[in-house]
Amino acid sequence: MITGATGFIGRHLARRLATDGWQVHAIVRPQSNTDALADFDAITTHTFDGHPATLEAVFRDAKPGAVFHLATHYVAEHKAEDIGPMVNANMLFGLNLLQAMKAVPGSVLVNAGTSWQVSDAPDHAPVNLYAAIKQAFEDCVAYHAAVENLQAVTLRLFDVYGPDDPRGKLMSLLMRLARTEETLDMSPGGQLLDLVYVDDAVDGFVAAAHRARAMTAPGHEVYALSGRDHRTLKHVAQAFENVSGARLNIVWGRRPYRAREVMTPWTDGTPLPGWAPRVSLEEGIERMLAADV
Ligand SMILES: NC(=O)c1ccc[n+]([C@@H]2O[C@H](COP(=O)([O-])OP(=O)(O)OC[C@H]3O[C@@H](n4cnc5c(N)ncnc54)[C@H](OP(=O)(O)O)[C@@H]3O)[C@@H](O)[C@H]2O)c1
Repeated sequence: MITGATGFIGRHLARRLATDGWQVHAIVRPQSNTDALADFDAITTHTFDGHPATLEAVFRDAKPGAVFHLATHYVAEHKAEDIGPMVNANMLFGLNLLQAMKAVPGSVLVNAGTSWQVSDAPDHAPVNLYAAIKQAFEDCVAYHAAVENLQAVTLRLFDVYGPDDPRGKLMSLLMRLARTEETLDMSPGGQLLDLVYVDDAVDGFVAAAHRARAMTAPGHEVYALSGRDHRTLKHVAQAFENVSGARLNIVWGRRPYRAREVMTPWTDGTPLPGWAPRVSLEEGIERMLAADV
């Protein structure tokens, strides 16, 4: 069972699992665009209308062995009107999911967290409200592990990138710049990034599910899914130019850093046992360019 299967990582995970012979169920919203999943007969979509009973019925029917919870509403710097959708996606929906999972004893959870739950500020407080809500949800997962016999793994992710990313994040911007004469204003570019290619991230989710299934007692383990290769934003753009041969029109320093820009990614997380990133930044860029034709 996958939530967020129409999103960037979720669609890659759903397709991988379907290709590998898993029976995949995706919980989507009435307004979700499911085109990214349409070519796969092994993926069944269920529409969640917001009523907990609907979700419980889906779980009773599908009886998933593993639940991958990737649904999110991401906002870097929130405004008042963002709070409702953020709480809805990052907390309320997840709580309904945990409740519904109680209908299927033995079903394990792989939860997607973020490295931003721990900032590089002196107090290590979450980077933003989005990360703070995800931290709060992680506590709810721990509660369900302690009280409801849940076996769960949370993977705290760093910057995942790859082809077919509907979010318009950094790598998509660089791809666009490479194709056009467009100029982009950026910060000075000195922030270190921890990038993970999407296929590596998907490997991590699969490994985490096996790990949760192999637990001999209820519990909640938290791991970092780090690419282990920190590069400045400027270096990433340079790598993109080197691999693609394109010249990117970026004006460095025209925009300020964000108020709580992460200059150094979190490094204190426990690595997921048995997992290591396999795709280098340069190879990841090559794969993105190849997928773009
Ligand atoms: N990508 C990264 O670099 C990164 C880094 C750190 C952590 N993460 C975490 O990894 C997970 C996957 O991230 P992503 O980048 O793949 O996300 P994404 O592309 O933004 O996709 C978000 C997904 O969540 C669904 N969703 C949004 N609001 C929902 C709601 N209220 N109820 C149910 N579903 C809802 C969306 O469905 P619709 O199609 O209906 O909009 C979509 O499928 C998230 O938990 C994210 O916090 C990602």
